[in-house]
Amino acid sequence: MDSTPFPETALPMASTYLDHNATTPVRSEVFDAMEPFFRDRFGNASSIHRFGQDARAAVEEARAQVAGLVNARPGEIYFTSGGTESDNLAIKGTACARKADGRHIITTNIEHSAVMNSCAFLEREGFEVTYLLVDENGRIDPGQVEDALTDRTILVSIMHSNNEIGTVQPVGEIGGIVRARGVCFHTDAVQSAGKLAVDVEAMGADLLSLSGHKIYGPKGVGAIYIRKGVEIEPTAHGGHHENDVRSGTENTVGIVGMGMAAELAAEERESEFRHLSEMRDALEARIRVEIEGVRVNGHPQRRLPGTLNVSFPGAEGESLIMSLDLAGIAVSTGSACTSGAIEPSHVLLALGRDPRTALGSVRFSFGRDNTMGDVDYVMSRLPGIVSRLREVSAASAGQVPV
Ligand SMILES: Cc1ncc(COP(=O)(O)O)c(C=O)c1O
Repeated sequence: MDSTPFPETALPMASTYLDHNATTPVRSEVFDAMEPFFRDRFGNASSIHRFGQDARAAVEEARAQVAGLVNARPGEIYFTSGGTESDNLAIKGTACARKADGRHIITTNIEHSAVMNSCAFLEREGFEVTYLLVDENGRIDPGQVEDALTDRTILVSIMHSNNEIGTVQPVGEIGGIVRARGVCFHTDAVQSAGKLAVDVEAMGADLLSLSGHKIYGPKGVGAIYIRKGVEIEPTAHGGHHENDVRSGTENTVGIVGMGMAAELAAEERESEFRHLSEMRDALEARIRVEIEGVRVNGHPQRRLPGTLNVSFPGAEGESLIMSLDLAGIAVSTGSACTSGAIEPSHVLLALGRDPRTALGSVRFSFGRDNTMGDVDYVMSRLPGIVSRLREVSAASAGQVPV
C-alpha cells in the first residue's frame, strides 16, 4: 500500500502545510489516547455497568483537561460537536433563555460565520443585532461596546481572535464593561486556545467556544464554557446528556482526544507562541522586502502568533492558492468555511480593503511542525508566482503590470 498521505494525487516533493487556522493534524499523543476508545473501551458514558463507568471516567478526565486550558471549573465545560455548535448554542441558547428581558444582541462585523449566521437567524426571528464596525486593523474599541449597550441588550458576542487576520480583541476590557451591566458576554476563542492565554475569569466571559481540531485534536468535537449560574436554553433536546445543555450520547473518542489536546496545548503554549511568532515574523519581513506592493492585514502587534494575512493587489487569490498548491504549499484565502465561493472576505472588506485587494489576499497560518525551512521554501516560490499572476491579470485587463 502506498504510504504517502495522498496516494491518489501526485504531490510534489515538498509539502508545506501553512493552513493551521483551517485545521491541524491530530498529534500522535492524542491519537494514542483515543485509540483504545475505538476498540475495547467502547462503553456509553451513560451506562451504569463497568463499560459505561470507564467511558464516564474518561469523559470527566477530559472535561478537567479542557477546563484547565481556559481556567474554568470542570463543571462549567460541556462537550459539543465543535466550534460551530458551541457558537450556535451560546447565541441562540441565550436569546431563547433571556428573550423576556430584551431582544437586542451586540456583535462585530468580522465574526466567524457560525456567529454571523446565528445572529442573522435571530434577526429573522425578530431580534435586533448591532454589528460593531472594526477599525482598519480589525479591532473594536471597548467604548463602542459601552455605547451600544441598551436596557434591552441580553448578549454581547465578540470573538477572542479572528481566524482570517489574527487580530486579537481587548476581551478583558469588553468583558468588564458587559458584565457590569448584567449582560451575558460570549467570546469565540476557537482560534486563540493553545496560542494565547485564554482565561475566563480574567476576561469575565460567561460563555466561551472551543474546537478540538484547531488544537491538534480530532474534528467533530468542541466545547462550550458556561459560567456557573448562567442559563441557556439547549438547541438539541433529548436524553439530558451534558447536564441537559447538549443532549446526545457523548462522543467519547473525540472528547478523550480533545482533552489530551487541551492538556498538551496548555503545557506548551508559551514555547509554541515563540516558535510560531518567529516563523510568522520572518515570513512577513521577507515578503515585505522581496515582493512589491503588498499589504499586511490585521493588527501589527495584537495578532495571533502564527497568522499572516497578506494582500497582493493585482494577483488573484484563488489563482495564488492553486499555484502555491502546485508548488506543494497549502494556504487559504479568507476562511476555509467560505473558500469555494469567490466573493471577497467579509473580514477584509470590514477593514476597508477594496474588493479587488481583498480577493488578492492569502492567509498563511503556521503550526507546531513548521520550521524556518518552510519560510525559505515559500520564499523560493512565492515572488515568482505573484509576479507571473500579476502579469497575467494585467495582460487580460490590457494594463501594465504593477
Ligand atoms: C473563529 C472560529 N469559530 C468557529 C469555528 C468553527 O469551528 P468548527 O470547525 O469546530 O465547527 C472556526 C473554524 O474555522 C473558527 O475559526
